[in-house]
Amino acid sequence: MNNPTPFAGRFAKAYPELGTKPLPIDKVYTAEAYEDQKEKIWKKMWLRLMPACEIPNVGDYVVKELECADTSLIVTHAADGKIRAFHNMCSHRSNRVAYEEKGNTKTFKCRFHAWTYGLDGALIHLPEPDLFPDFDQCDHGLSEVACEVWEGHIFVNVDPEPQWTLEEYLGPEIYNGYNGFWAKYPMVAKYEVEVNCNWMVFIDAFIETYHFSTVHAASAGDVINSTTNPNGYLDAARLFERHRTVSADSNIEYNPTFAESLARKYSGSATLAPDLEMIKAGLDLPPMLNPAGMDNWSTDILVLFPMCNLQALQGFYVSQNYWPTAHDKTRWEFMVFQTPPTNAAEEIAVEYNRAYLRDVVREDLNNLEMIQSTLASGAKRDQQLGDQEIMVRHGYKVLADHLGYGYSV
Ligand code: FES
Ligand SMILES: [Fe+2]
Repeated sequence: MNNPTPFAGRFAKAYPELGTKPLPIDKVYTAEAYEDQKEKIWKKMWLRLMPACEIPNVGDYVVKELECADTSLIVTHAADGKIRAFHNMCSHRSNRVAYEEKGNTKTFKCRFHAWTYGLDGALIHLPEPDLFPDFDQCDHGLSEVACEVWEGHIFVNVDPEPQWTLEEYLGPEIYNGYNGFWAKYPMVAKYEVEVNCNWMVFIDAFIETYHFSTVHAASAGDVINSTTNPNGYLDAARLFERHRTVSADSNIEYNPTFAESLARKYSGSATLAPDLEMIKAGLDLPPMLNPAGMDNWSTDILVLFPMCNLQALQGFYVSQNYWPTAHDKTRWEFMVFQTPPTNAAEEIAVEYNRAYLRDVVREDLNNLEMIQSTLASGAKRDQQLGDQEIMVRHGYKVLADHLGYGYSV
């Protein structure tokens, strides 16, 4: 099922188990469907929470709201070097114990009765312990959540007894196939915004290129569309039990502007100006990237079910988290990872790259709330998907498999 498939137009033949039927709207986007997804997806799966570079020092912590799992989490970097995650909930009478979005601390002290916890979650102090006669302090630390770091990214699973380790969840090919690629670049930019659309509407807008010739015609069409691939089709897909990757090529005949050439030269990335030499230099890629071995490789998108994209490009990568906060709302995080600039020229080039990416993804965002506004009308009961939307279709199948309502071809 997961060998790289050849050029676009044949995905349906390569993956007959996905079929070509329309996909039902009421199974995915409604408030009722979301309640089911919370229990069976968001409280059961491994979720990519954030890059570990957000808490590099001992004492660093971040508080993450996970409305989709009905909780708030504290992620800590303790003195033993370990990264841990806890429910942000006092063991006494359930108040929160961390109140800022992030910081550096030695302890978390509840504002209700001052019970105090260490970075490892242990309850290290409570006032007047004699008031609690049958009470063992050691048993009342913060409730820990399964937490693992893979390729420089922190994953959590709020299921008290996760069905899989993170390695099992990702599967051996993904878990072992990137050789540190995702860990080698630090985060240089991040955008966060709440958008009025369902999380699947959001993620599906970023895993097909069928929209490229309309949505991104002006900003990026010439960089992607080439004489050999005039519609910017995806070139290869690999579909796993839950996750998926796709590869796309670039238009190496594109003639970059002077500013784009400078940005390429000083940022070490070729988003705006595909460069064969740079691509070749970068083709010493780990086995999971560019599995089809394209000479003019542009990008691979790894989609980790349910809510994360990692998109490798030439000399850098971007990543997105899609956190539902309601059936029709998603908090979106967009992150750019790149070699940090060391001088003014590189700083300007990296900034140019960041601004370019911001403008391209803003084009994607323009449609999302309009899509959401039509879904509740009932006018259409299903959605049609073409061959280039194989990743979207696979996402629905994975969702259906996990929710137990079945997927028919
Ligand atoms: S609720 Fe936290 S100390 Fe009482
Ligand atoms: Fe797009």
